[in-house]
Amino acid sequence: MDRRRFSKQVLTALGASALGPGVLGAGEGRSPGSGGPPAAPFPQTGARINGRRLNRWLEEFSRFGRRGDGGVDRMAFSDADLAGRGWVVALMEEVGLEVRVDVAGNIIGTRAGTEAGLPPLMLGSHIDSVPAGGNYDGPLGSLGAIEVVESLREAGVETRHPLEVVIFVNEEGGKTGSRVLAGEFRLQELELETASGFTIGEGIRRMGGDPDRLAEGRRVVGDAAGFLELHVEQGQILEREGVTIGVVEGIVGIRRWTATVHGAANHAGTTPMDQRRDAMLGAARLVEAVNRVVRSIPGSQVGTVGRIEAFPGVPNVIPGEVLMSIEVRALAMETIESVMGGIGREAEIIGRENGTPISLEEFYLSGAAPTDVRFRGWVEGAAEALGHSHRRMPSGAGHDAQSVAHFAPMGMIFVPSVGGLSHHPDEYSRPEDIEAGANVLLGALLRADRGLD
Ligand code: GLV
Ligand code: MN
Ligand code: MN
Repeated sequence: MDRRRFSKQVLTALGASALGPGVLGAGEGRSPGSGGPPAAPFPQTGARINGRRLNRWLEEFSRFGRRGDGGVDRMAFSDADLAGRGWVVALMEEVGLEVRVDVAGNIIGTRAGTEAGLPPLMLGSHIDSVPAGGNYDGPLGSLGAIEVVESLREAGVETRHPLEVVIFVNEEGGKTGSRVLAGEFRLQELELETASGFTIGEGIRRMGGDPDRLAEGRRVVGDAAGFLELHVEQGQILEREGVTIGVVEGIVGIRRWTATVHGAANHAGTTPMDQRRDAMLGAARLVEAVNRVVRSIPGSQVGTVGRIEAFPGVPNVIPGEVLMSIEVRALAMETIESVMGGIGREAEIIGRENGTPISLEEFYLSGAAPTDVRFRGWVEGAAEALGHSHRRMPSGAGHDAQSVAHFAPMGMIFVPSVGGLSHHPDEYSRPEDIEAGANVLLGALLRADRGLD
């Protein structure tokens, strides 16, 4: 049984072809507001982001891993990811960032601050996608951060803190880059095969990192002043309520198990129905039980069986073993524990009744993380100053920001996802919402720069 291969489906050198000059585009990058309508002055600095340029970068970037249906296959460590990283590095250098790749394969671009001794203020996201994903989940916060840096440069605005734009590696396959920074990454994950076909260890090497030195990438409290991530909502709340900016209050915790249902393989034609130990039947009952247990208590927790594989996996053999993933998410880790406890009890009953014992093994854990209250205020202040409607909301999706929360205060900004669609080729956010979100990112960053030590 190849668990490593199963995990490939569960988890889902600096890039090639740096583009050289011209990423910014002729006539852009030096004159404030170029290419867009005249910008109203930003309250503190006069700086505003250039929405037209940011939207064009997003469009250009969508070619990396583009699919015929409009979506992207830019899975972490794939050739498309590598090529996209090359483009992003070129862009970061063009806006004046000093770029390096850390031991985990994260791309980090630094801009100096004015006050000696202050830790960096981080902003960024990821650029990898799920298979058949969209071009907004990750790239918005990544290119949005680069746009903020370019806008500051155009406006001649310096920050007290150094700025660090971070493009985290392998967010979709387990938040590898940010969890290395947080000291949450478990070394056994290096062996897991990802949707690119490479293991995480191979992938880190491919991206220019060093899996043997991951401990050196760890950051502790004091190593960063704070972190801000702009992201698409990936849900329907903002669109339904006609609100432009989501002020994230907290990010769900996530726990994932592999369930193995142990049956007995035998001939599908000659084994009477009352003499079978059918692992698939046990798995089917467990799928139903996961849904039932998650719904049995009030709250917004969710549970998913996203992957199932039967062995030997042919029509004429009763499955002798079935592997499946179980994922539970909730804003409170206690809720996850209680739901997982209930699922464990159900698994034991099903195993006994069906003659197919079930073993459960955790392979991924990501802690829930509230955002820092000061960052919520700064995001709200920036949205107010720009005249954008806003509301507070939780995040049901996982984000690199929740890893960073282990060593630095963080905040997140959401913009509407049309139709609430994400992790889907039709994922889309409107250009005006993207511009609004990036301007709020800029405004919140400047507020944090003044408010943080
Ligand atoms: C990441 O997008 C996740 O929520 O799984
Ligand atoms: Mn994301
Ligand atoms: Mn995602």
